[in-house]
Amino acid sequence: LQVLFITPEVYPLCKTGGLGDVSAALPTALRELNVDIRLLLPGYPAVMSGLKYKRKVATFNDLHHFSPVTLWSAKLSVNHSENIPVYIIDCPALYQREGGIYLDTAGQGWSDNALRFGLLSKMGAILASDASPLTWFPDIAHCNDWQSGLTPAYLHFHPGKKAATMMTIHNLAFQGCFPPETVTQLGLPAASFNMNGVEYYGNLSFMKAGLYYADRISTVSPSYAREIQQAPLGFGLQGLLAARSQHIDGIVNGIDTMEWDPATDPHLNKNYSSNNLAAKKANKLALQQITGLEADSDILLFAAISRFTEQKGYDLILQLAPQLVQLPAQLVLLGSGNAMLEEQLVKLTDTYPGKIAAHIGFNEALSHLIEAGADSFLMPSRFEPCGLNQMYSQRYGTPPLVHATGGLIDTVVDCTEATLADGSASGFQFHAMTPGAFLAGIQRVVTAYRNKPVWRQLQKNGMSKDFSWRASAMAYREIYHSLLGPV
Ligand code: ADP
Ligand code: GLC
Repeated sequence: LQVLFITPEVYPLCKTGGLGDVSAALPTALRELNVDIRLLLPGYPAVMSGLKYKRKVATFNDLHHFSPVTLWSAKLSVNHSENIPVYIIDCPALYQREGGIYLDTAGQGWSDNALRFGLLSKMGAILASDASPLTWFPDIAHCNDWQSGLTPAYLHFHPGKKAATMMTIHNLAFQGCFPPETVTQLGLPAASFNMNGVEYYGNLSFMKAGLYYADRISTVSPSYAREIQQAPLGFGLQGLLAARSQHIDGIVNGIDTMEWDPATDPHLNKNYSSNNLAAKKANKLALQQITGLEADSDILLFAAISRFTEQKGYDLILQLAPQLVQLPAQLVLLGSGNAMLEEQLVKLTDTYPGKIAAHIGFNEALSHLIEAGADSFLMPSRFEPCGLNQMYSQRYGTPPLVHATGGLIDTVVDCTEATLADGSASGFQFHAMTPGAFLAGIQRVVTAYRNKPVWRQLQKNGMSKDFSWRASAMAYREIYHSLLGPV
């Protein structure tokens, strides 16, 4: 079974969020299940310099509207386990530049993103068809998010031999919409610009193209798979998704249990496990010291880490921060994104020095120490396709409080008398997306935290859950097999 995994980001080379983590961990788990899965990635500077031993495998000088491209192959080492073969699209005109992988230095989407990810999609389609110069031919082209959404469209219009296609939605809020003329610029037939095709409210939508033309669709949790088939979380695509309901699977993400293991994590001040939870305190003190919070091993320390966007519900945290401090509790925040939110957070830390700390920016090492040092993790996401931090939190003995949405429903067991009794309770959920409901949730955390045996139980339950990729990787493999058709 041969699969081409087409993705715009992968940890540790280039990561802006959970898709980066998934693009490293899922292929690793699938390779352990004997699936010959290989990645296709844009050649951003971090990818070109991060993969040392590259071999040139093809050149393309006549790609419709795209600049000349060199295709390299290399191996990505993830956690010293088996290396993942990677194909890199080297196109300096589109990828060799300073700034983010999606956004320019001013925080705007690159103006040529249609071309940048049109090329990723196009190369995916070439390598997954008989137009490929490679001897390796995938049975499945597995696309991830809008950046690779045109691959199924290109393949649909390719007359020759081609792979089956699977489109995984990691976040439907990002759809990759561009003006109508982009259709022909990217070499798609004009006829595809149609309600039954790539058109979405007068524009070309990469995401819709993928959802319309892919043989199978999946998303990253069963709850989110249901939610996107209705408004508002279908973001206008609910009709198409509901019509394709039979072809949609919700497979919950796993986590990289080697990368995220409090017993061995090199970013911690002190390693610990569920048998040695007392050692977790050393991380709390280290975190308080590093972030400028008052040293206090007893005070309840809440944390949040994420992109600052509407999705993540940071506005609720900001609104409740004054009450939170009164509980008393401390709060540490790590993230970046929305400039207004960043500014408000900085103001908040000035108002409550020693009680609230915010670190603006992307910091992988600090994110590990926060998971270990905090007592409870906040995730008031408006929607969350899967979410990874709530799983990291449970594994680190840091019970999360989450909004009951998407993957958060599927991965956090709300603490009740019944779930405490059966040993499944591992965190807290709140239902209405309101400050009142969130505050009530916070108060439930406070009550549980004060009851040491209950808190220990929650920590231990979370730490003993199996968040590994194995079961989910097997579910993906089963779908791949079902796409092969009768032999
Ligand atoms: P999303 O993909 O929507 O951003 P996830 O919870 O799936 O949300 O994944 C987010 C990933 O990105 C996690 O691994 C999280 O720790 C990481 N992350 C987000 N923001 C930061 C940051 N500022 N510094 C370090 N890691 C971050
Ligand atoms: C997206 C989602 C997040 C999910 C991640 C990986 O960025 O917002 O919920 O965990 O993709 O699938």
